Amino acid sequence: MSEAPILLTPGPLTTSARVKAAMQRDWGSRDPGFVALSTRTVERLRTLAGADESCVCVPLQGSGTFAVEAMLGSLTRPDERILVLANGAYGRRIVEICRRIGRQVEVYEVAETQTHDPAEIARRLELDPGLAAVAAVHCETTSGLLNPVPEIAAVVARAGRRLLLDSMSGFGALPVDMSGMDIAAVAASSNKCLQGVPGLSFVICRRADLGTRKGVAPSLVLDLEAQAQGIEADGQWRFTPPTHVVAALSEALDELDEEGGPEARLARYSRNCRTLVDGMAALGFETALDPARQAPVIVSFREPGEAWFDFTTFYDALCARGFAIYAGKMRDVGTFRVGTIGAIDSIVIERFLDCARAVVTEMKQKLIR
Ligand SMILES: Cc1ncc(COP(=O)(O)O)c(C=O)c1O
Repeated sequence: MSEAPILLTPGPLTTSARVKAAMQRDWGSRDPGFVALSTRTVERLRTLAGADESCVCVPLQGSGTFAVEAMLGSLTRPDERILVLANGAYGRRIVEICRRIGRQVEVYEVAETQTHDPAEIARRLELDPGLAAVAAVHCETTSGLLNPVPEIAAVVARAGRRLLLDSMSGFGALPVDMSGMDIAAVAASSNKCLQGVPGLSFVICRRADLGTRKGVAPSLVLDLEAQAQGIEADGQWRFTPPTHVVAALSEALDELDEEGGPEARLARYSRNCRTLVDGMAALGFETALDPARQAPVIVSFREPGEAWFDFTTFYDALCARGFAIYAGKMRDVGTFRVGTIGAIDSIVIERFLDCARAVVTEMKQKLIR
């Protein structure tokens, strides 16, 4: 087997040898040792979100979208309308989920390079008392854009509504303080800034919000209230837990603590991002976003509109040199993406830049010949 490339992607991403090693043991799902590990892991996630004991962290088997769908379906009733703030594919996915599960939405969509106007959010909430909740995306991974969560949360709280936040590609690095920021619920997963492996997602929310919406979830497996009941009763998951993923996440949380917590992790990702953006600029690549709106998670670069550039060739050549990048996802502009998260530092980014320089030179020379 050839050596796996370093993943400069938004998750799954490059994990440490230690996180991978934690998956060597097979756990029985009812083994008291596993139940204790799972209970502690879930508690640690709640604490990371700045949530007190009035909140619960409900883990789910499955990728991030499972948690987003569970959050929307379990924390809103069919008669409660949701204002969705969209500026990328993940905001639009929230709209699609709501429609599928029979939740009424109003969509406030802005361009993928822009953020929402807090005054307009306030105006819409004031005009429509039927809007019970606002759903927003923290880092819009489509572009890498950082949505201003504290400002959004403040407007939503002032209007007396609940904020349901998809912090999939931010949680573990970008600040999330459920008590301080007045956020009603956060959905995230194991395999992004937490630097675990894929297979587990979770929602942290208020017990009271779940309790008053018992039975509203339109799905058996994505029913947060029922899942929370099961787990809080005896620490056991309702259905087969992803045991190896939980063990890997527990190890990844130890690593996060040892690194100095989300603040230190954000500082490392920020160094990675600065090194990447500066190095790519020297090679002639421009970012798609205004630097003020860029989250240090993933960067969208405009595809050069020049004859030498072809994404597939660029991707394959980088992969052959040991780095996997990501295709673009922005709607109106041709881009490709490079992630800055995972068990990597700026030295790895420097090595990537050396490879990118060599590939660009090679691609341009091929065109001349
Ligand atoms: C912001 C955001 N929300 C939701 C998702 C969906 O997660 P998954 O692909 O794990 O289902 C992603 C995935 O990248 C994401 O970045």
